[in-house]
Amino acid sequence: MARIAIMASGNGSNFEALADHFKDNNTDDNIVVLIYDRKNAFVKERAQKYNIPVLYVNYVASGKEGAEDKIREILTQYTVDIVFLAGFMRILSDRFLEKITIPLINIHPSLLPKYKGTHAIERAFTGKEKETGITIHYVIPELDSGEIILQKKLSCRKNETLDELEERIHQLEHKWYPVVAENLCKKINEKR
Ligand code: GRF
Repeated sequence: MARIAIMASGNGSNFEALADHFKDNNTDDNIVVLIYDRKNAFVKERAQKYNIPVLYVNYVASGKEGAEDKIREILTQYTVDIVFLAGFMRILSDRFLEKITIPLINIHPSLLPKYKGTHAIERAFTGKEKETGITIHYVIPELDSGEIILQKKLSCRKNETLDELEERIHQLEHKWYPVVAENLCKKINEKR
């Protein structure tokens, strides 16, 4: 059984897709904790609905180093095997990533290396891309640059609004993040 942590900052639709998946699938893998960094993040309410423990990390009061030390403490305390970032809006420091010995995965709403950073969907839209998509990748100190695990493309439609494109990107994310998560957990279980 793989023990999963999710880190998120906001809405949490990807968190929910993962939570739904691991509740219903027939593995013993489990989301054991949600770590969030914005007090009013809606993701917290989603986690409570699934009875998943939620832990707030206060970057403002603790500073970046303090907050990251707290995150490492939580991961140890919950004996986490793998972490999925799901809209976690902070850049993790080299110091944090060097100390972490478990895999850390991120999902990004563009075809990396295109449109790293924030507002990726909007920038692909205004850039009039013919296609865009999602990337699931390992986290390394360089932003949105780690080894790619999976990319899925979609074609941009003529006359499509930004909202419509965003919606289709999120549908792709919700479909594929759980698939990748389950595969990675399977690998962890096989190694034991
Ligand atoms: C997603 O588009 C994800 O790719 C990006 O942040 C967004 C989070 O959305 N990293 P949500 O909070 O999961 O709804």
